[in-house]
Amino acid sequence: MLVLNNEASKVFEKVNTDIYSDPLTASKAVAREIADLIIAKQEAGENCVLGLATGSTPKQVYAELGRLHREEGLSFKNVVSFNLDEYYPMQPDSIQSYVRFMKEQLFNHVDIAEENWNVPDGTLSEDEIAAYCDEYEAKIDSYGGLDLQILGIGGNGHIGFNESGSLKNSKTRMIALDSITRINAAPDFDGLKNTPRKAVTMGVQKIYEAKRVILMAWGEKKAGIMQKAVEGPMISDVPASYLQDHPNTSFVVDYAASTELKRVKTPWLLESIEWDDETARKAVVRLALKLDKPILQLTDHDYNTNGMNDLLAKNDGSAYQTNLKIFTQLQNTITGWPGGKPNVDDSTRPERATPEKKTVLIFSPHPDDDIISMGGTFLRLVEQGHDVHVAYQTSGNIAVADEEAYRFIDFANDFNLSLGFDTKDSANVLEEAKSFLTNKKPGDVDSVAVRTVKGIMREGEAKATCRFVGIPDANAHFQKLPFYETGTIKKNPMGAEDVQLTVDLIKEIKPHQIFAAGDLADPHGTHKVCLDVIFAALEELKAESFMEDCWVWLYRGAWHEWPVEEIEMAVPMSPEEVLKKRFGIFKHQSQKDGVVFQGSDSREFWQRAEERNADTANIYNALGFTEYSAVEAFRRYRFLDKK
Ligand code: F6R
Repeated sequence: MLVLNNEASKVFEKVNTDIYSDPLTASKAVAREIADLIIAKQEAGENCVLGLATGSTPKQVYAELGRLHREEGLSFKNVVSFNLDEYYPMQPDSIQSYVRFMKEQLFNHVDIAEENWNVPDGTLSEDEIAAYCDEYEAKIDSYGGLDLQILGIGGNGHIGFNESGSLKNSKTRMIALDSITRINAAPDFDGLKNTPRKAVTMGVQKIYEAKRVILMAWGEKKAGIMQKAVEGPMISDVPASYLQDHPNTSFVVDYAASTELKRVKTPWLLESIEWDDETARKAVVRLALKLDKPILQLTDHDYNTNGMNDLLAKNDGSAYQTNLKIFTQLQNTITGWPGGKPNVDDSTRPERATPEKKTVLIFSPHPDDDIISMGGTFLRLVEQGHDVHVAYQTSGNIAVADEEAYRFIDFANDFNLSLGFDTKDSANVLEEAKSFLTNKKPGDVDSVAVRTVKGIMREGEAKATCRFVGIPDANAHFQKLPFYETGTIKKNPMGAEDVQLTVDLIKEIKPHQIFAAGDLADPHGTHKVCLDVIFAALEELKAESFMEDCWVWLYRGAWHEWPVEEIEMAVPMSPEEVLKKRFGIFKHQSQKDGVVFQGSDSREFWQRAEERNADTANIYNALGFTEYSAVEAFRRYRFLDKK
């Protein structure tokens, strides 16, 4: 479904941009366009020359093309394809190779002839590359150029591997990868030190020469760069912006990737809109922050000069009433009683007063998300006498460094030896794990023995946190959801067993409150699958009577926070609680000091959590509320309202 697509709202957009509700719907529309082009070319007796991309973005397009081939007889016999890029150096059969990617995602599933697909060669010597790149371009030209080029976009705006700074007339060439690109790719290569520094990429010019270009982007993490590429100036810093004056380009985004575009972020500046409660709250909060004024100090003039006159008109015409209404709504989100305050009127509070003592189930995707993302709330819930359980959804085993695992294997071995225990079986496992690690090469998938050790290490850390917070060992549930256990960064999709394990646990605990990591916009990754598993379980459990009393709260993972206008429960923390939470996070020693999956943020997890919670507190403060040290934020998921 296309959303927010009327022309009036697009005045700031310099390239045709289509917003779809979700990546799957968008991918199917793109696949349909590709299929129609292939068919039209077939009918004209011509080749269809496609420019193809790799990365996570086009995967669902390829899956849909595979389906169209299987189920609807779409033939790729007339397709000639040219991929954008390949790491250098790279062997075509290695797991990170784009040749392998393309075979797995598309070529093996359709009837494209092997001699008709082309992926830049990562095996050549450096001095052969320049001539090879010229030949690659000449080959594209020999087919009459690209009929359609599909693209993803890097967080820095790269297209292909044309990093920031690439010229509009750049040729196909060897390029040094940007450090951000390498950091993003590092998990696939078992760490930054093994990640290639170079790649061969089709130049911007060849991409630009394509008769039709479709650039896709999914997820909130692409929202910032999409705003620059769509609304910003055409500059080399953002190579995707070069497409703004291409005669036949569409950018295709899902809703999450569109959220920084003006037509989504501030639609009231573009045309008159229907003001619902949520939009009004968003607009007033943004206005106050933009003008650096507490909400209660906004004036009629402020509203009128910021496209919000009709919001005033909808109320009693004065800023005073609108200010008060939004201020009160936000004030009502703040509570020191995340499990509900007993014996008070709870009609304007985020949680119910009864039952006074609640059973709470916190779902933690990895073994440390509970304490990182909602440690202060976790501590309060326990202190306020609720029966708190934590479900650790995955083992988190791939995020443990090899040296750390080795240290623990040594400990276990020496422990057994020094006490003279008869531990033949365990000694075998430990020996196997140790020899695997000694011989491990970059990119090798850990053996089961090594994963077991790493998983146990993380379990131990989670248990230490639970003891520190004050819940009994029996309240820590280690689900080890099977989708996660691939040993690699790529996970399986959610399966029936993942959902069943979750249904069973919820049925056993019968919680009044569920807390779950709500990274709704994350297009891939463990948190999203973990959330989908919970949603699927809730769907199955809807009819159970105990579920009528169950409220679901979403917290956000270690990476980002709810925008303040979306927060429905804000739990303030004192400086002492902030410190206590920090010590709770420290229990996860394997995730401290140079962790395996650092992401592009060099801060440690406790620092990110503290800064994020302080930022939320500062925003509340800037809007005119009490100055707290830190605030943890939640949004309610009303699963029973959903059809
Ligand atoms: C892929 C490519 C890159 C990616 C971009 C986005 O062939 O050239 O430009 O399209 O890095 O990657 P994902 O899709 O993984 O977010």
